[in-house]
This record gives sequence, C-alpha cells and structure tokens, in this order.
Amino acid sequence: MGHGNGPTFGTSMHVTMVKKRLENGDDCRKCVQAEDVLRGRGVWERIDRIVWAVEGEPHSEGMQLGQRFGVAAAPFFVVRDEQGSEQVVESTIKLLRSLDARVPSTVVSEPSEAELPQLAEQLARSEPLAIVRFALERWGKSCAIAWSGAEDVVLIDLAAHTGLPFSVFCLDTGRLHPETYRCIEKVRKHYGIEIDMISPEPVALQAFVRKKGLFSFYEDGHQECCAVRKVQPLKRTLAGYHAWLTGQRRDQSPATRAEVPVLQLDPGFAGKSGRLWKLNPLSHWSSAQVWRQIRDNGIPYNELHERGFASIGCEPCTRAVLPGQHEREGRWWWEESTHKECGLHSVGSKPVR
Ligand code: ADX
Ligand code: SF4
Repeated sequence: MGHGNGPTFGTSMHVTMVKKRLENGDDCRKCVQAEDVLRGRGVWERIDRIVWAVEGEPHSEGMQLGQRFGVAAAPFFVVRDEQGSEQVVESTIKLLRSLDARVPSTVVSEPSEAELPQLAEQLARSEPLAIVRFALERWGKSCAIAWSGAEDVVLIDLAAHTGLPFSVFCLDTGRLHPETYRCIEKVRKHYGIEIDMISPEPVALQAFVRKKGLFSFYEDGHQECCAVRKVQPLKRTLAGYHAWLTGQRRDQSPATRAEVPVLQLDPGFAGKSGRLWKLNPLSHWSSAQVWRQIRDNGIPYNELHERGFASIGCEPCTRAVLPGQHEREGRWWWEESTHKECGLHSVGSKPVR
C-alpha cells in the first residue's frame, strides 16, 4: 500500500476514536477489526480516548460527534492539535499513515517446495481474509492486488483490514468505462491507498491502432487488442512482484475457470525472483457471497452494476446481461464462451500440490 503525502500527526495531538455499539450490546465488527489493526501496527497507545456511538441513541457522545462532523459510519477518529483545532479522519488506514505507524517488516519468504502441498491444502480450506493475510505476511508490498471488478475491491477491503502493507494496480487499457474510472477514484479515496494505473506501451499501441483501427476485435477477435492493452502491460508489471492476488472465481466461467485454485505458481508469467505466486482468495465464492460481503461492509462498487452489468471489462467489449443470463455472457458476446479469456489468466494452470 502506498504512503501518500497526507498530514502527519505528532505525539502532541489528541486522538479520539469513535466506536459503535450495536443495539444488542455488541461492539461493531469493523470497530473491533480497526482496534486490532491499530494494535498490530503499534499505535494503539496513541489513541487517547474512546467514545461510543450507541445504535438507536442519537444523544450518545459518539453519535453527536458523527453528526457534528457529518460522518455516518464508525469507526472514525477526531484529531485535535495543541491550538484546539479538530479534524476528522474517517479511515483507519489514513489514521495509520498520519500517525506515521511503523510499517511491519515483511520478509519476502518464498514457500519451500516441502511446504507446498500442506500450504495449498490449508489455504484451500481457509476464509478469504486468512488467505489475504497469509499473502501479505509473506510478501507485503511485493504482493499486488490486480484490480478491475467488484471482487477485487472485496480483496482490497480484506487487505485493508489486515493493516499490512500491500500494492494495487489496474491495467488501464484506455477503453474502460467512465464509471470504472470514477469507481477507481472512489476506492482510492475510501481506503486512502495508492493505485498504480498501468498504461499500454505507447509505441506498440500506436502501431496496433494505426494498422487495425479502434474496433478490430469485432472482426477478428479480441486477442490482439487484449495482448497490447492488457497482457503485455501485465507481464511488465508482474515482473516487479513476487505474488499477485486476483478476484477470479470458479463459477465465473464453467468453460475456463472451473479449476481455479486458491494458490498456484503462475503458469503464464514470471515474477521478481523468477517464479511468481498467484492467489485467488475468492475462488470458492459465488457471486452472491461477493455481493453480501459488499453490502454488509459498505464496500464501494462500480455504479454500472446498478444498470445490469455483472462482469465488467472494457467498454466496447462489455454489455449488461438480462436476469438469468450468466455474467460472462456480457463479455465479448460475439465470441464462443471457451474463447472468453484475454490472456491474463492461463487456462489449465495447475494448482500447487
Ligand atoms: S478477464 O481476463 O476476463 O478480463 P475478469 O474481468 O474476469 O478477467 O477478472 C478476473 C480478475 O483478473 C480480476 O478479479 C482481476 O484480478 C484481474 N483483472 C482483470 N482485468 C484487469 C485489469 N484491467 N486490471 C487489473 N486486473 C485485472
Ligand atoms: Fe481491447 Fe476489448 Fe480486450 Fe479491452 S477487452 S483490451 S478493448 S479487446
């Protein structure tokens, strides 16, 4: 996760954390996770005061603070300086950055051949959060989340909850929907993270467009355009990482993704140390599980989903689907379902065993 140039709060600042207490008396889950993250990063002692926003009690101190600062969701933080001026910080990650929290040192440690079978089996039975945590504890910022869709924002959300550093990149093909760019910006601000937007190599792109125009994929298939706009940039990007996380799920495509494992050695791309680890933490999840996670946790999503778009790629190659249609039918709809991969994910890849 990148460290931006926001303000840094010195030790003289007074920090109040507003936590939510649910009507049934429980602490809200996100607030508990936030506390874990702050403890894990060694800055819990910098929280001077905890204030409760009690559900259903608008006069509770936390609710009042939320109203005063126009914040609807806990946890959030109020930071007061020596002059008494206050500012609100709505995300735990932003607070960590402002407190200059120590970044846990992640030792890039490759799993050994001997531990592979056990690891693969163990991760295949693990919850997505545990899988993401495993990857970030091993590789930290040298592990990147490849972001394009709703699943990937779920991964970003899980990664944020670990409190560990991570990287995010998006292959900016130049043909994404304006709504997708707006979503990227929303996510960037929501989590206070940096996102690497990866452009195609300009000389190759210019030569391709000069020769084939801007819509050749409708005539002779999407492979050539995807190669220039996605696959080559991905190859270049992955060469700088040890591992990457994708939002692939098995039920996204019975034709090409039915075997997607949780952990594999990437059969198509090389990483920083030669081999590249690929993790698909949501491989066993259904679309319904992804959307439940999004709703339950207030995770930002692409507004196109409200207009019938299920799986979203580039604008000319994506369309809305009707109720009951498979999500993949909205992608490259003029091609056979077995051809609906663009080269980012090698089909037939073997899980690590
Ligand atoms: S695609 O190969 O058909 O385009 P899909 O849209 O299903 O892939 O996405 C599967 C996963 O591939 C995503 O969860 C994401 O991790 C990665 N991915 C796809 N498109 C991009 C992109 N433009 N930038 C970064 N990652 C991407
Ligand atoms: Fe080109 Fe369509 Fe592939 Fe995007 S999805 S890179 S526009 S062929």
